[in-house]
Amino acid sequence: MNTSVLDIPEQYQITETIQQKTYLVGGELKSWSGDMAEVYSTISSTEVYAPTLLGHIPQLGKKEALEALEAACSAYDKGQGEWPTMKVIDRIACMEKFVVQMKTKREEIVKLLMWEIGKNLPDSEKEFDRTVDYIYDTIEEYKQLDRDNAKFEKHDGVYAHIRRGPLGVVLCLGPYNYPLNETFALLIPAIIMGNTVIFKPAKHGVLLMTPLLEAFQNSFPDGVVNIIYGRGRVVATPIMETGRVDVLALIGNSKSANALQDSHPRQNRLRLVLGLEAKNPAIVLPNADLDLTIDECIAGTLSFNGQRCTALKVLYVHESILEEFNKRFSERVDALQFGNPWDKGAKLTPLPEPDKPDYIQGLIDDALEKGASILNEKGGRTVENYIFPAVLFPVNKTMRVFQEEQFGPVIPIVPFKDIEEPMDDIADSNYGQQVSIFGQNVQTLAPLIDTLVNLVCRVNLNSSCQRGPDVYPFTGRKDSAVGTLSVHDALRSFSIRTFVASKDNSYNNAILKELLDTKASNFISTDYIL
Ligand code: G3H
Repeated sequence: MNTSVLDIPEQYQITETIQQKTYLVGGELKSWSGDMAEVYSTISSTEVYAPTLLGHIPQLGKKEALEALEAACSAYDKGQGEWPTMKVIDRIACMEKFVVQMKTKREEIVKLLMWEIGKNLPDSEKEFDRTVDYIYDTIEEYKQLDRDNAKFEKHDGVYAHIRRGPLGVVLCLGPYNYPLNETFALLIPAIIMGNTVIFKPAKHGVLLMTPLLEAFQNSFPDGVVNIIYGRGRVVATPIMETGRVDVLALIGNSKSANALQDSHPRQNRLRLVLGLEAKNPAIVLPNADLDLTIDECIAGTLSFNGQRCTALKVLYVHESILEEFNKRFSERVDALQFGNPWDKGAKLTPLPEPDKPDYIQGLIDDALEKGASILNEKGGRTVENYIFPAVLFPVNKTMRVFQEEQFGPVIPIVPFKDIEEPMDDIADSNYGQQVSIFGQNVQTLAPLIDTLVNLVCRVNLNSSCQRGPDVYPFTGRKDSAVGTLSVHDALRSFSIRTFVASKDNSYNNAILKELLDTKASNFISTDYIL
């Protein structure tokens, strides 16, 4: 599992650290001279293993956090702010200005994605490109939404001009596994719909925001986007405690989400957009095409080392094909190449959380104690920043690896005889994001599909679970999510329908006509954005 540090290509070497000494509040990149936190990569750049220092970020306190909140509230300005009242076309122009600048930062951000979270080069590039596409798709979708609303309706003698309006101030927190893409999947729709935002980058994947700070600063009016750094408990909690946040947008851990939600004193006004834990299962039926199934299960369990909320986190395999599946699957796992993110062909890469290998080891030990074995030769081998994926079999409900969302490289296989066994487990699970089902007999599949769609939010037929394409709804039942994200749905999640109504009489109609003719209102408009 060794990778030589001498193999780091020149363009990916860390020649200087990033000193992030500013934070963005009220349109100003404020200098910070207080405590700084070190940002390390678990990837070593020396022959003898040592984490690599990548830079420093400000450790802001409550005072700075509340300044950011104040700036966001002022920019919203009780609904009168420039941004929430701005014409759609002008908001779009700001977003376009931002994305044009963002595209010039691809190289820097991709390099930081690799160092900060250990994501391999092709996936880091994909994360960047997918995010740029997401922004352009959001702009197009917003134009469409605006076109759909560029009209008046009339029912029972009342005219209505209905649009989607912003909700207010959004606190936005993203996850470390997609620090750019998932964060922006919250941030971009929140901003474009006219909300003002306070955004705290994830703990890992924080320096990669540095190249974008100026673009945020110069693309949007002051206070629309505020970017702060520090510990969640120190900066996010006091913001929530004021009761002035209208939307908590968070992709990550339910513990943080619940704590933040609970610290808001006026919960009825708090809208939630949350993407939380999942334990997506795969069900492998007796007649499944094993070549295809194994390919998909490898990608599903181990892309980005299993650190995806959509990863397959437990495999249910029918006992009739178990022997062949286990053998072939384990061989395929062992054939995966471990390396640094820039190494050609590296599928398994260093884990960004220094304590993750120990945590995974704990899951393995617990399963072994309770009767499972490691099926693959390399399973559980460790180096300083990695633990090779162990294929654990047979796994049962008493084991921690069955109960916990491992979010890392370890694969539990649960044998089943009767399909009711996995179906009952899925029904009893606290999670309800997605499922993968492998098989081809329509008579068997049909009733399973009809039930599974009522237990999760996406049933993947003969393919692993995933979020994309981003135009499709991304959500979950039970403890897995609140609200729906997709290019279209996210615009809805960060807005509310609001309208102007007037009785159909000549007095009102003359006023409406004048409003339209003079274009005096940004809300009342039937202009059509092409
Ligand atoms: O961490 C959860 C992500 O939304 C997964 O997205 O399925 O595209 O990897 P993905």
